[in-house]
Amino acid sequence: MSSLTSPFPGASRAARLQRARQHMPMGVAENYRYWGDDQTIFVKSMQGGSITDFDGNTWVDFRLGYGPIILGYRDPRVDAAVVACIQERGTICGFSSDVEVDVIETLKSMCPNIDTLRFANSGTEAVMGAVRVARGFTGREHIIQVEGGFHGLYDEMMWKSDLEGWDASAGGEPAVIPFGRGIPRASRSLSGFVPLNDTAALDAAFDALDGDVAAVVLEPIQGNAGSIASTDAYMAHLREACTARGALLIMDEVKTGFRVAKGGVQELYGVHADLTTYAKAMGNGYPVAAFGGRRDVMDVISPNGGVVHGGTYTANLIGLSAARATLEILATTDALATVNRVGEAIMGVLGGVFDRHGLAHQFAGPPSMFGVHLGETVPQNYRDWKATQSTLYEAFAKNLIRSGLMLEPDSREPWFLCEAHASLDLGWLEGIADRAMADALDDLPR
Ligand SMILES: Cc1ncc(COP(=O)(O)O)c(C=O)c1O
Repeated sequence: MSSLTSPFPGASRAARLQRARQHMPMGVAENYRYWGDDQTIFVKSMQGGSITDFDGNTWVDFRLGYGPIILGYRDPRVDAAVVACIQERGTICGFSSDVEVDVIETLKSMCPNIDTLRFANSGTEAVMGAVRVARGFTGREHIIQVEGGFHGLYDEMMWKSDLEGWDASAGGEPAVIPFGRGIPRASRSLSGFVPLNDTAALDAAFDALDGDVAAVVLEPIQGNAGSIASTDAYMAHLREACTARGALLIMDEVKTGFRVAKGGVQELYGVHADLTTYAKAMGNGYPVAAFGGRRDVMDVISPNGGVVHGGTYTANLIGLSAARATLEILATTDALATVNRVGEAIMGVLGGVFDRHGLAHQFAGPPSMFGVHLGETVPQNYRDWKATQSTLYEAFAKNLIRSGLMLEPDSREPWFLCEAHASLDLGWLEGIADRAMADALDDLPR
């Protein structure tokens, strides 16, 4: 029986972290990559649906860098297109190219709600651009955010509902706290927070902000809260409420775009946003992002007093050539159908394992990025997630990692699928998942 605290095997891991610590805070380039002194993973290579560390451990990877990999690591079609583009043309020179319009034309063929678009280098930048455009267009300052959402690491988006410190049985709302130090208190005052799928709370937030809401910003399927999904009725109400209140609806499709369907959540729900943000799957792992939507709204980006948007690396040819190739593949092949089929099959295997162990369980979200919730009901919002057995899930996930399957041990991160997972051995998955859950249950404190 495995211990929940034993490190994953890896002779060089701790030494690598120790070396890196001399040069980077926490020894990692991003806070969330620190998994503890013995368990912080250093990856040597990536291929298809797998990653391999410096000690020769290979994992089938369902984390996929938090979602960008949609075809597979080192997809030769995308990589060849990038290499050809930068060898023939270069990377950036601070002027325009034709690749920008190539990308947008393909993107618009998949996402009919986009009239015009601007590029960015990360999801964070795309959200910043969309929110600035919304404020510029409406002349209003406030935004409404949905609890459990994540919109990148910039001050006004770095406030969250404190579920850890919230006692659901005592009633009342969870406190809204900053992610950490360094976030100005003033940035808190720019946002109202509401639970997903609660139309009354949404209406009350609009009332409280008294005509000064520039936009509601949400992930309709919460890729950062176990893929908890909006209901159709909520989406319809949200759309109507935004229009009635003169606020814009910004759908953050950084995780869902080009993953849950060719046209993202807006295709699944049949509801249109005024502005949409994209990143991640758009470039199959190359750094590229975008935001866009209604032409009249985006036209507020203009000279002489309009909204300013840009940046040195905006529309660089590395990211854009990757996006051009990736979107073309997603638009013209059955890659996403494959991703969905494999995701369904994996959910089937996991469901069978949970049943065998007598565990109530729910899947949330679509097969390409599904959340697993050990509990009696599908969470309808982030607060509901607190009632799920997330500690048991974490133990299960850590046992899977020890068995060669990589995923985020936190059940707020979904399982991400890519086309290369089509070669997954479902029998192998069933065997390791069964053992992982048996060990997790054995190790539960009695
Ligand atoms: C929905 C959503 N929006 C924005 C971001 C920020 O994107 P990035 O990390 O590329 O800045 C993320 C990142 O995970 C995300 O999931």
